Amino acid sequence: MAIKKPKRSTAKRRRVPVTASLPPTATSTTTSQNSFTPAGSSSADSLSVLMALTPSGAETTSSTSSLLTIKSSKAVARKKSSMATAQLIRRYHTLNKELSQCLARIDASTNSSQSGNGGGGGYQRSQGPRYTAQQKANDLARIAAIRQEMDDLGGLDMYQKASTLGQSKQRGGDSSKWLIPVIESCHPQLDKKAGKPLRLLDIGALSPHNYQKYSSWIKATPIDLNPQDPLITKMDFLEMPIPTTKDDLFDIVCLSLVVNFVGDPAQRGEILRHSTRFLVPGTGLLYLVLPLPCIDNSRYMDHELLVEMMAALGYTTLVSHHLAKKLAYYAFRLDVAPSSSGDKKSKKTVNQPLFPKKMRHDKPNRNNFCIVLA
Ligand SMILES: C[S@@+](CC[C@H](N)C(=O)[O-])C[C@H]1O[C@@H](n2cnc3c(N)ncnc32)[C@H](O)[C@@H]1O
Repeated sequence: MAIKKPKRSTAKRRRVPVTASLPPTATSTTTSQNSFTPAGSSSADSLSVLMALTPSGAETTSSTSSLLTIKSSKAVARKKSSMATAQLIRRYHTLNKELSQCLARIDASTNSSQSGNGGGGGYQRSQGPRYTAQQKANDLARIAAIRQEMDDLGGLDMYQKASTLGQSKQRGGDSSKWLIPVIESCHPQLDKKAGKPLRLLDIGALSPHNYQKYSSWIKATPIDLNPQDPLITKMDFLEMPIPTTKDDLFDIVCLSLVVNFVGDPAQRGEILRHSTRFLVPGTGLLYLVLPLPCIDNSRYMDHELLVEMMAALGYTTLVSHHLAKKLAYYAFRLDVAPSSSGDKKSKKTVNQPLFPKKMRHDKPNRNNFCIVLA
């Protein structure tokens, strides 16, 4: 049986030179819409589906088949595997986002009733509709259902395993690959032979080995909410103690596919703001990776807004960026120390986010990715 060899993608990678002013050229129509609804599937099911579809699982092709058929089968299996992985990841993201929205509504209603706002146990958002007891009950029920579905999928652990597959060499490797040449070309403190290794904080690290090859000049500290390896420290970055001495600051902070993982737009902004407290001002680099649709296909976000937001945090130099087929890579330099870059807000604006959720591209088929910066 001859299986057609799948065509190689001819899509060109877009490289964007080192500049802060270039607009994004991407016009992808990808959406973040979810198409995977494994209702009733168990975590074992999800795992076995995923494992069965991995390239190694595809190597059971009959020994009598031609080399071409084996190669083609492997390619088809890899494609299926990659689709299954992507579907799992997308579904997990969708659930995570919805969970954050429900929790944020409940949180806001609790804060509001504690401060005497809204009255009667119901929450009145400023100029927004009243949050009724029935809505709260619905949100609580939905939270339970979401958590159940997440558990059925295999929880964060399953999501991370799926993401690790996405980092495999067959799929292009982990995203540290892009960062290394950027550091080599621009970090003023870099002296591979005689200098102190650069300190790198890898937030949301799936592997402790991403920077192992460069260990003579990069000292990596990997952290994650749910470490997949004993060499990764279990830590919620938002609760990580802020360095008190200059020696504890980092030269590089990596947020690769972490900001989009967080479901709540305000928490995404908080993570970005928190990153400024860990970097050496003047030279520290933030490495930010987002799925491309967050930048080129969102109603609420685009390249220009991201650059503006980052500048408001003190990341006034966009050292380099690269819009690839699926991912957007950014390296920002922290030029302004956090205390003087917007941490202090006037009383008048204290309740008004610096960057609220605001429609920028009111077009169909766009996704709702958004970052709110308080
Ligand atoms: C898609 S994975 C990203 C993995 C990897 N950095 C990459 O580029 O492929 C997102 C990871 O971020 C972690 N994460 C999310 N929020 C976090 C937080 N507040 N502190 C630490 N890790 C976090 C999750 O546990 C998850 O493992």
